[in-house]
Amino acid sequence: MKLLIANWKMAPETPKQALVLAKATVAIAKKTKKHLHLVVCVPFVYLTSVHTSVRTLVLGAQDVATTTSVASTGKISAPLIKGTGATYCIVGHSETRALGDTNETVKEKVERLLEAKLNPILCVGEKERDSHGWYLSTVKDQIESALGGVAKPQLKRFVIAYEPVWAIGSTATREATPAECTEMIMFIRKILVDMYDEKTARVVSILYGGSVSEENAEAFVTDGGANGLLVGRVSLQSKRFAKLAERISI
Ligand code: PGA
Repeated sequence: MKLLIANWKMAPETPKQALVLAKATVAIAKKTKKHLHLVVCVPFVYLTSVHTSVRTLVLGAQDVATTTSVASTGKISAPLIKGTGATYCIVGHSETRALGDTNETVKEKVERLLEAKLNPILCVGEKERDSHGWYLSTVKDQIESALGGVAKPQLKRFVIAYEPVWAIGSTATREATPAECTEMIMFIRKILVDMYDEKTARVVSILYGGSVSEENAEAFVTDGGANGLLVGRVSLQSKRFAKLAERISI
């Protein structure tokens, strides 16, 4: 079973469009349910309406507050996310790291999600690749920090998404290759084995994300060894997203 996560980011613009997209996405989920577990991370403002109208869609939020204090204007806490019916939440996405998230705040967010019994989708990835392999230590630090206080039984709640920053979004410099994906997935698995043990490390799904399309998706899960994919832009285009889902339903 592969895990496919859609990250709608800050789109679409209207509740009506969100509902249309959610309905198209649930049709994709139904069609591929033998092979795929589909999770859709929608903007906070749509979580409740999408959940009430499309009950079978598995939902996630895209970020969470580090605090549960009510005196936090503009923030959304883990219990509030839980109350919408969402079961997953992205944490440590490079776009929220760029806006100020540090390894320390990501760790706090992870703790809040676990307290609320939500499943963290922990995003990690280097800004650039260097020929000395320093990018490996960036990813290692991100994981060791985020999982620092996470006990063995809680690890099974986690999804880790490797998203090299240089391959994400419309400003991507290039696509990652399946070989680069394999290398990092093996490296992440080894970090988990060292922090926990082999049996525990095995249950964590490690995904690839960054300019995934219907064209390159299959290579990341077959040659690249990813347990699934985290998809941004293409998840907003139902026809392309349906094709993508179909191609990894193998
Ligand atoms: P992209 O975004 O698929 O549009 O590159 C992926 C992500 O940022 O999660």
